[in-house]
Amino acid sequence: MHHIISIKELETEEINALLNKAEKISKEGFVRRTLEDKLVALLFFEPSTRTRMSFSAALSRLGGDVITVDSVEGSSISKGETLADTIRVVSSYVDAIVLRHPKEGAARLASNFSTVPVINAGDGAGQHPSQTLLDLYTIRENMPLDNIDVGLLGDLRYGRTSHSLSYALSNYNVRIHTIAPKGLEMPAALNEELIERGIELVHHDNLQDVINELDVLYVTRIQRERFPDSASYARVAYSYRITPEILNNVRENLILMHPLPRAGEIDPAVDSLPYAKYFRQAENGVPVRMAMLEEVIL
Ligand code: CP
Repeated sequence: MHHIISIKELETEEINALLNKAEKISKEGFVRRTLEDKLVALLFFEPSTRTRMSFSAALSRLGGDVITVDSVEGSSISKGETLADTIRVVSSYVDAIVLRHPKEGAARLASNFSTVPVINAGDGAGQHPSQTLLDLYTIRENMPLDNIDVGLLGDLRYGRTSHSLSYALSNYNVRIHTIAPKGLEMPAALNEELIERGIELVHHDNLQDVINELDVLYVTRIQRERFPDSASYARVAYSYRITPEILNNVRENLILMHPLPRAGEIDPAVDSLPYAKYFRQAENGVPVRMAMLEEVIL
């Protein structure tokens, strides 16, 4: 049984194979009925638009069907049922489970109790492997994943997309530049892991110090929901914003990415500039998740 819990468990060849499969699916125009009669449970105990809907779209495009739980309140977890019991039961109904949960480690726990493959759709500040695969796919659409400079801007402490992506990038010849508000830097353990894996990692105090050297600027939202209190969130809120002016002297091939949702970090005036790839990035979620569902179910 093949779970996808963390990007760390995928070898470079497996990542490349998934990206190649997604590319093939996209080129063929999503005409594919490989998962007819297959049923997938989407268990989302945290809000989501892109991940939930693109997994649902992906399965429909593959000829399968979904059953869903969209909130804690809408499930018997609100009556005190454990996640383990929920997973035991739901896995007897379906061919795979896609789980989003506010607690780091929840997807791993679910995989220990599930009789079908589990895909982690985001576990707290932990990992978000399907997002990372579509991020890599989007970079690869624009440039080879070789000898490039990638800037990670934003909440690198709580942002699971940056955690997953930075680790995945360590499979390639990439330099990573981090730019985070004070207190929201990348966890020390992840920094060490990346350095051990041989990646060149540079921390910057200001985006202006490095923006002109970047091929990719990956912006993230401050994860308000993960802060212990509103005062600590208020200290860092609105501390960065990408505007057309900031992009005046950047590399011609720069791509600007964001996992979305955005909450003021990118001025909508940037959307029409050639650098803006974040809506294309979200669109790429469908072929990438189609490839992932085939991978775990077939
Ligand atoms: N990028 C992402 O995970 O978006 P959603 O929270 O809307 O799924």
